[in-house]
Amino acid sequence: MYLVVSPGGTLRGETTIPGDKSISHRALILGALAQGPTIIEGFLASEDCLATLNILQLLGVNITWQNTQLIVNGQGLDALREPLDVLDCGNSGTSMRLLAGLLSAQPFASTLVGDQSLSKRPMARVVSPLSQMGAKIVGHVAPLIIKPCDGLQAIRYEMPVASAQVKSCLLLAGLYANGETIITEKVASRDHTERLLRYLGADITTQKNQIRLNPQAILNGKALSIPADISSAAFFIAGASATPGAHILLKGIGINPTRMGLIHILQAMGAEITLHEKRYAGFEPIADIEVKGITLQGIEVPEKWVVSAIDEFPVLFIAAAFAQGETRFSGLAELRHKETDRIAMMAAGMEKLGVTLAILPDGIIIRGSKITGGIVDSGGDHRIAMAFAIAALQASEPITVQHAQHIATSFPSFCDIANLLGLSMIQEDNHE
Ligand code: S3P
Repeated sequence: MYLVVSPGGTLRGETTIPGDKSISHRALILGALAQGPTIIEGFLASEDCLATLNILQLLGVNITWQNTQLIVNGQGLDALREPLDVLDCGNSGTSMRLLAGLLSAQPFASTLVGDQSLSKRPMARVVSPLSQMGAKIVGHVAPLIIKPCDGLQAIRYEMPVASAQVKSCLLLAGLYANGETIITEKVASRDHTERLLRYLGADITTQKNQIRLNPQAILNGKALSIPADISSAAFFIAGASATPGAHILLKGIGINPTRMGLIHILQAMGAEITLHEKRYAGFEPIADIEVKGITLQGIEVPEKWVVSAIDEFPVLFIAAAFAQGETRFSGLAELRHKETDRIAMMAAGMEKLGVTLAILPDGIIIRGSKITGGIVDSGGDHRIAMAFAIAALQASEPITVQHAQHIATSFPSFCDIANLLGLSMIQEDNHE
């Protein structure tokens, strides 16, 4: 599918954004392990989260929709049953890495598979610590074949790379281990798993960057409200921040400190972003985010904000191309292991659009440029497709994004919301 975006347009108005992808996965998985119903409001029905949902159903979990609420009827930690089929994670790294931890502890065998992109992504980062715990896993990339083991041992683990997926994988395995699982991070990655575990009654504490979890017989199902996804809102926040005349208000967005890198980086570039009505939606903080567009200034992006902005760099690169002067991003080696190599893929498309840039081994330098237009490839990466659509705000010609169907991975209503706010984009099956 092609996404054809008209040049210009604006971002103005008030809207809501769909639920957080990371929290939706975790609500499903922990709901499945809890005792009694977990009633989820604001679940993100995107392809990635539906992959987790389908897998849990294959593991015997009863999950139903009741109007806008998703009800996960958990039967406790030991109620999963052997699946009759392979477990397809599609494009979703979160599904594969989190479920690898959970499945390692089960008394039955299972196989996790993924699409072409996911099958190339590194899984050794979960297989290796899980093996230290005693898990029996074959494969360092998908497919992962997981065999029943003789019980998991709790470990102390120092995370070599900041990754919430790896941390969450080990916490899920730790729920079944004999003893205390202790995980230390150099930089705090998103902590949704820890918050939700605590909310459902788990014995988990965080002190500085150390997390300690003791296994527990019961988690309690509860009503959960999932905040709007700041990583989806990011496309409009970054686009509006860097476009004079733009003015948006996005309601009920998750503002967990471990996800705030986008806001810090844009504010350092001069963005006028205000958080209104800060409040809690259950276990996560939220706010209404107002953005007024101006011309941003290029900066050297401090590496301390990389982890908390890890999914936002494609659109931050576009904001840097809209800005005055040069923006230098470094410390981004992890971007090369996402759904695509996001440094290479973004650089290729941005050069086609007339942006002056230089690629670094772990980052990119982007000069504020006049953006032309043309056909750019997203490589099937949802966030790259949406970032290039946002580039049209300041383009002089239409931008056509190839393989844009993958936007449904995380944000199926992206085009509708973008059009509502003042961009103009249509989807085409064929493009001349
Ligand atoms: C996620 C963690 C991040 C992020 C991904 C979602 C999660 O990945 O990029 O989109 O839900 O835990 P890493 O853990 O690999 O950094």
